[in-house]
Amino acid sequence: MKLIAIAAAAAAVAVLAGPAIAAPKPDPAMLQQGHDVFQKWCAPCHGAGPGHPGTDALQAKYKGAKPGLLEERRDLTPDQVRFYVRHGVSIMPFFRKTEVSDADLDAIGAYIARTKR
Ligand code: HEC
Repeated sequence: MKLIAIAAAAAAVAVLAGPAIAAPKPDPAMLQQGHDVFQKWCAPCHGAGPGHPGTDALQAKYKGAKPGLLEERRDLTPDQVRFYVRHGVSIMPFFRKTEVSDADLDAIGAYIARTKR
């Protein structure tokens, strides 16, 4: 009984302490997750070098005014990334939540927007 009370108290303390010890934004673990999910689902088209249709298309679209590489863009917000991923554009397919979950998508958005100021 006493043990349960102690455990409950510890849990309460952990919950209360949560926000105070939360990692600063953006959370490095989230950025790592975003990087990993990006490598899996996006890099085949948005990777660096020749033969990446996403990178090539964005290079052509912005004519060099913005980097063709998504990972080098400084203007994209997580909301914009979310929109394109859920809706698709041109030859880019949209991604279902069973492929890229909401949590994964949040992480990709944070990852792409990480250099945004
Ligand atoms: C099958 C190839 C393909 C895959 C896979 C793909 N994309 Fe794309 N993506 C494209 C192409 C091509 C465009 C440019 C379309 C156009 O001409 O406007 C694009 C455009 C975008 C844009 C719009 C950028 C802009 O400024 O117009 C975003 C954001 C984006 N992709 C994010 C992603 C993310 C995040 C993923 C992974 C979840 C992903 N894409 C996977 C091919 C792909």
